[in-house]
Amino acid sequence: MRFDVVTLFPELVESVGAFGVTRRAAEQGLYELHCWNPRRWGSGAHQAVDDRPYGGGPGMVMQYEPLAAALAAIREADPGPARVIALTPQGRPLDQAAVRRFAGLPRLALVCGRYEGIDERLLESEVDEEWSLGDYVLSGGELAAMAVIDACVRLLPGALGHDDSATQDSFTEGLLDCPHYTRPEVVAGRAVPPELLTGHHAQIERWRRREALGRTWERRPDLLARLAPGPEDAALLDEYRCLRRDAAGGRNGDD
Ligand code: ADE
Repeated sequence: MRFDVVTLFPELVESVGAFGVTRRAAEQGLYELHCWNPRRWGSGAHQAVDDRPYGGGPGMVMQYEPLAAALAAIREADPGPARVIALTPQGRPLDQAAVRRFAGLPRLALVCGRYEGIDERLLESEVDEEWSLGDYVLSGGELAAMAVIDACVRLLPGALGHDDSATQDSFTEGLLDCPHYTRPEVVAGRAVPPELLTGHHAQIERWRRREALGRTWERRPDLLARLAPGPEDAALLDEYRCLRRDAAGGRNGDD
């Protein structure tokens, strides 16, 4: 897969490939990352890429021309079609379904906004999709672009050491992940759930599914509503709720 990123801070974005899974994947040649600084196409002695907003108000707006020139250079460098994504707080909140779709494409061009935003005409004419990292404001789109790259790369075949790791990630099935434990068996007075020590594969899987459903119900009811659990999951969720109620009752009883 090839990523082309339009950014005023190429060193920042390039650091996404410097560590861990994304570094190994780059070394294996699973993806390429190219950054394009729109300042190269900026105007005047200072190679300006921004100007004051029409209508007044605070801050500066990224201009059409340097961004369009960077995207033209990207197309020239490799004529294979690239889906163009802008990272802005006005975009749809990024989710695993979008990441899965991106990871299936041969190329992605990511445009990082800075300042108060990007001239709307660039978004209208050059950008296919606008995505956000979440409902908060970052100093620019770079961290969001890095999140997209990281999330895509871990889905590329061969990127993760263990074949099952990506399929078992949170959100793969629309659920949060279950809790995980490692040695020692008891730490700070807290024991590992006994189901995980049985060595009984089906029982362990059942426990993991119940905990994943329960956590999603507690923390992200919006995800659970979208999933519409079938009868087996509904029974596991009931069991989770009963256990929770019993545990809370026990705690209250001690008071
Ligand atoms: N740029 C500034 N804030 C952002 C956000 N939340 N997501 C994506 N890009 C951004």
